[in-house]
Amino acid sequence: MITLPGLIDTHVHLREPGATQKEDFETGTKAAIAGGYTCILDMPNNPEPTITPEALDKKISLAEERIYCDVGFHFGATLDSTQHFKQAKDKQSLSLRDKIFGLKVYMNHTTGTLLQEDPQILQTIFESWPKDKVLMVHAEGPTLEKAIQLAKNNGNRLHVCHVSLAQEVTMIKKAKSDGLPITCEVTCHHLFLTDEDAKKLGPFGMMRPPLPNKEDQQALWNGISDGTVDTIASDHAPHTKEEKNPPAGGSIPNGIPGLETTLPLLLTAVNEGKITVEKVIELTNTNVRKIFNVPQQFDTVVEVDPTKHYTLDARRLYTKCGWTPFEEMKVTGKIKRVVLRGQVVFENTEIVNPPKGNVIYPEKIKQQPD
Ligand code: DOR
Ligand code: ZN
Ligand code: ZN
Repeated sequence: MITLPGLIDTHVHLREPGATQKEDFETGTKAAIAGGYTCILDMPNNPEPTITPEALDKKISLAEERIYCDVGFHFGATLDSTQHFKQAKDKQSLSLRDKIFGLKVYMNHTTGTLLQEDPQILQTIFESWPKDKVLMVHAEGPTLEKAIQLAKNNGNRLHVCHVSLAQEVTMIKKAKSDGLPITCEVTCHHLFLTDEDAKKLGPFGMMRPPLPNKEDQQALWNGISDGTVDTIASDHAPHTKEEKNPPAGGSIPNGIPGLETTLPLLLTAVNEGKITVEKVIELTNTNVRKIFNVPQQFDTVVEVDPTKHYTLDARRLYTKCGWTPFEEMKVTGKIKRVVLRGQVVFENTEIVNPPKGNVIYPEKIKQQPD
C-alpha cells in the first residue's frame, strides 16, 4: 500500500447550476473522492456563467453542505465581468478576490458562451486582472502564442490549460526560459489516448482540445520529464450519453469525464516506469497548491494498492454521466481508501460518510497587488 496526499484538481466542470442532467455538486464530488481527489476547483462556463459576484455566491450556497470533497471556484472572463476585477484587487473587505482561485479566459470555441476573440477585449481582460492571481487560458496552437504575448505585455501569471500539442510545449518552454511567470497543465486523456482512439470512440472521444497524434502525445510526456509541465488536471467535462448521441444533424458537445480515471491511469504509468510516484505528487498536489494558492488539507490522504490490476468499468463510476472513454482499459493501481481531515470518506469502492467537504477560498497572497 502507498499513501499519497489527497489529490487536487484545478480544472473540473461540475455543471451546477444549469446543466445538472450531466453532473451536480453531489455526484461530481462523489466522483472526485472515488478518484482520490479531496479538493477540486470548478470552472465558470455554466449556462449561467460565473461572471458576476452574484453567480459566484449562488454556486457557493448551492454547494455548501452537499459536497463530498473541498470545492473552490474560478471566475469567467467577459468584457462585462472585468468591472468586477476591481473588486478582485481590493484586499480590505471579503471581496471577490478572496473567493476565487483564478480567472478563466476562453480564447477558442468550446462548451458555453464565454469565447473571447476580440483583441481589444482580450487586452482589457489581461490588463485589468490582478497580476498576483492566476489567469488561465483555453488557447490551442497559434492562439497560445497570442495568450503568451498578452501575458507578457500585461505582466500576468499565465496558466495554460490542457496543453495537447508539441508546438504548445515548445512555446511554454521558451516562455519559461525567458523568465515569464507561466505554468501549464496536461490531462490524462491527452496523455493516454490518441487520434487513433478518437476514431473508435466517436462522440465519446470528442473534446477540446482534441486527442493528439502520437508525436504530440510524446511531447507531453517529455514535457513532464523535463519540468515544462507543472500540473495534471482531469478537465472533467461530463455530458450525458444522449447528448453525445444526438438525433441526426444535432451537434455533439465536447468533453469527457475524468475525475475517476486520472489517478488509476497515473498509477498504471508509475507501474510501467513512465513516471515516478514523487512526480505524480508534485503534479497533482505540491505544484498545484503553489500555483493556485490552495490551502493545505491536513490529515488528508489517499491509500492505493499500486499492484492491483483491474479493468475500468463505467458501471462502477459515481459520475452522473455514466460513461468513460477509458472503458475496458486495464489499469494497475487501485484506490483503497480516502481520508479527509482525519475521517474516512471512501473505502473499498464505497463512499462511506455524509458529505464532509467545505467550500474553500485561496490562501492570502502575500505580496501587494499593483
Ligand atoms: O471539451 C471540452 N469540454 N473542452 C472545454 O474546454 C470545455 C468542456 C466543457 O465544459 O464541456
Ligand atoms: Zn478548455
Ligand atoms: Zn475544461
